[in-house]
Formats: sequence, structure tokens, C-alpha cells
Amino acid sequence: MRVAMIGTGYVGLVSGACFADFGHEVICVDKDKAKIAALERGEIPIFEPGLDTLVATNARDGRLKFTTELKPAVAAADAVFIAVGTPSRRGDGHADLSYVFDAAREIAAALEGFTVVITKSTVPVGTGDEVERIIAETRPDADCAVVSNPEFLREGAAIQDFKHPDRIVVGTGNVRAREVTNDLYRPLYLNRSPILFTERRTAELIKYAANAFLATKITFINEIADLAEKVGADVQEIARGIGLDNRIGSKFLHAGPGYGGSCFPKDTLALLKTGQDNEAPLRIIEAVVSVNDARKRAMARKVSVALNGEVRGKTVAVLGLTFKPNTDDMREAPSIPIITALQDMGAKVRAYDPEGMEQAKAYVSNVAFCKDAYDCAADASALVIVTEWEQFRALDFVRLKTVMERPVLVDLRNVYRPEEAARHGFAYEGVGRAR
Ligand code: UGA
Repeated sequence: MRVAMIGTGYVGLVSGACFADFGHEVICVDKDKAKIAALERGEIPIFEPGLDTLVATNARDGRLKFTTELKPAVAAADAVFIAVGTPSRRGDGHADLSYVFDAAREIAAALEGFTVVITKSTVPVGTGDEVERIIAETRPDADCAVVSNPEFLREGAAIQDFKHPDRIVVGTGNVRAREVTNDLYRPLYLNRSPILFTERRTAELIKYAANAFLATKITFINEIADLAEKVGADVQEIARGIGLDNRIGSKFLHAGPGYGGSCFPKDTLALLKTGQDNEAPLRIIEAVVSVNDARKRAMARKVSVALNGEVRGKTVAVLGLTFKPNTDDMREAPSIPIITALQDMGAKVRAYDPEGMEQAKAYVSNVAFCKDAYDCAADASALVIVTEWEQFRALDFVRLKTVMERPVLVDLRNVYRPEEAARHGFAYEGVGRAR
């Protein structure tokens, strides 16, 4: 199949490279000339494990191409994916759909022969109807079907998620469009990934409901963690104890500093707006959003507790800045409000992240960026693990103790067991575990 992927952001690039790897002929389109030139040279603008090799192999074999010319790419395609950004609109939290609608107009003008136009960007319910209307208005003669096919990729595990999805959701009432999407995803049949065909509006809502549910699950366990701390229970064991129940499931029950990233915060807000607009208030999600917002900054208080309230003038070492490991993405990262709160308390902050330090410079200021975990810990009165990168999982406590001013570990991802830290003479503060 010939595929045109509009937008070479995270979703577009990963999906384009994976479709090419399945044997489809893919052309990725972006307006950004510098980005396309870089991609043609094999330079990947984001950090995603395995993506560089996947792009290089498929580009070398001629199945993956890059262009700034939308028209010929769309004209030749059987399927055109819209994978452009849908950021939160400034002021009201609604998803900003201007990039999606611009793309729809340009695609419409370029369509030739029957083409399936597939929205992969996360878009509010009813966007597919609007895309269809725009196409019909721009090109009344166009022979096309508009489909919703949301993505469920996690940053840092995106290739694995694309190739072994729990499910593929395709929203369309059009039989030909169904056949085309079926052919596109046929390579996944071997992996026994189910395709769920549904109506377009339902598919659009599935995406938001899934992200909102996962955000709720995380926020739920985070509040249970706070209670566990107060009553002397262990949230890790509670998560295991409830997660073994199949009806609950063990994933996304890892307590921490609150969820961040480019999806959960933006998508939960957009879903709230959709709820309000349709007089169906989503009170649970409202609570999730506000509990999570307050949580991030509140995590800095754990440092204050661990230092008996003496934070002013002290050096605090922050390990991990990105919103999760295996990405360089700093969007809505818990590290940002945590660092600001620590600075407000008068702390000097040193920080280290394996991939996110360049990006972090745009989000935090007056931070000393360090070359590794031990450099970061130098003279620190507390070491705070904010993001659970693999390389922080086996820290050399003896070495840390020699460089730190005080052996205090604040472990916001519960990477270590309290007794392990204690054995090395560290005062330990985790999440949801009695001190
Ligand atoms: C999320 C969803 O997991 C994907 O299915 C979806 O496709 C994607 O959003 C999207 O809409 O594009 P992502 O934001 O990359 O993926 O990362 P997650 O692994 O879901 O983590 C989100 C946040 O939740 C991170 O800050 C992470 O640290 C936090 N989290 C996750 C926890 O605090 N506890 C957990 O148990 C799991």
C-alpha cells in the first residue's frame, strides 16, 4: 500500500517508519524544510529507542521517503494519515485543531482516485465530521472516506507498542475504507492484535477515554500512597495486592510524583471541555486533573521533610528531568514544578538527566546541569530521584555518600527499598511507604 503521513512529529515518524517496516511504501510529509532535510540525512529529531535504526533501514531500502511536497505524496497515496499536533489551545484548554484542519484542506486539494484519509492525531469527538466537511467543501468531486484511527503509543516504547498493540481501533462506517485499513494493519494479524471496527465518533472518544482512565488509575494509586504513608502501609504492596485482580490489572499502578507528558495533561483537559460543551460534566476527571496538578509541586515538601525543614541554602541534587525515562520530552514533566518549588524554598538545585538536559534548559532556570549522577550529588544535602531512568537503579551508595554533604535519598519513583537505603546509612523518603 502507498501511505502518505502528514506530520513528522512523534506519532507521524514512528507510525511512518513502522508501516514502512511492514513493507508498505511510505512518504512522510512536513512543512518544516530543515526537519525534512535532517531526516533525509538520517538525523532523528526526537529520542526514541530503536527509531534511528528503523528509519535508516527503511530509507535505505527505499520504502520510507521524506518530502515537503504534500501534493504529489497525497495524489499517489491509497491512505493519507493526518498526524499533526493538537496542542492545548491557550486560554481555554480545548484542543487546537487548526493544524488538523489546515492539513485537511491541503489534502483535499491534492486527492486523486479513491483515498482513505485517516486521523491519527488525538482529536475531540466530531473532528472527523469536520474534516469530512472541509474536504467536501474544498473538493466536492473527491472520492474519499475519513477514518479515525487513534494511536496508543507510549513514548520510549513506541515501536514495540506499534508492532504489538493491545488493539487497533478503526472508526468508519465505510466498507472500502475498512478494507484499506485492514490491509494496512494486516501484518499485525501474526501478532494476534485485534482490530476493533467501530463508528468514527466512538473511535475518537475511545482514545480520550483510554488516556483519561489511565490518568485516573495513576491518580488513584497516588492518593492511596498518601494514605499509606499516614497509616504505615506500603503502596507498592497495595498495588500488587489489587493489581493481581484481573478486573483491576497491575499496570499503571505505580505511585509517583504525578503524571506528566505531552498526552495525559492535554487530553484530560480537552475531554473536560468536551464534557462541558455537551452538558455531561466529567467530575471524576476534573478531580484527577486538579489532584495531579497539586501533587507535582507538593512533592518538593518531601525534600523539606527529609531535611527537617532546613532547605534554605542547601544543595539539592535532582536525578531525572524528563516526564518519564527513555525520552527527551520535558513537556509537563513533574521535575519542573518540583525544581521551582525547591528553589522557592531557597535550595540550590543541581540536576542530571541522560537525555533531557538540553530541553530542560527551556523549562527551568538557575539549575546547575551535571555530567552524571555522582557529579550531580556533589555537596548535596539530598538526592531526589524524579525520573526512574535505568541508570539510576543501581547507584553506588558508597560513592554517593563520599560526595554528598548529607546522605539523604528522596525516591519519588520508589526505585529503592527503604531498608536498602538504610543499610547504606541513608535517610530515605519514598512515596506511599511508611518512613
Ligand atoms: C500515554 C499513553 O500511555 C499512550 O497509550 C498514549 O498513546 C499516549 O499517552 C498518547 O496519547 O499519545 P505517554 O504519555 O508516552 O503515553 O507515557 P506513559 O507511559 O503513559 O506515562 C505518562 C505519565 O504517567 C508519565 O509521567 C509516567 O511517569 C506516569 N505514570 C505512568 C505513573 O506515574 N505511574 C504509572 O504507573 C504509569
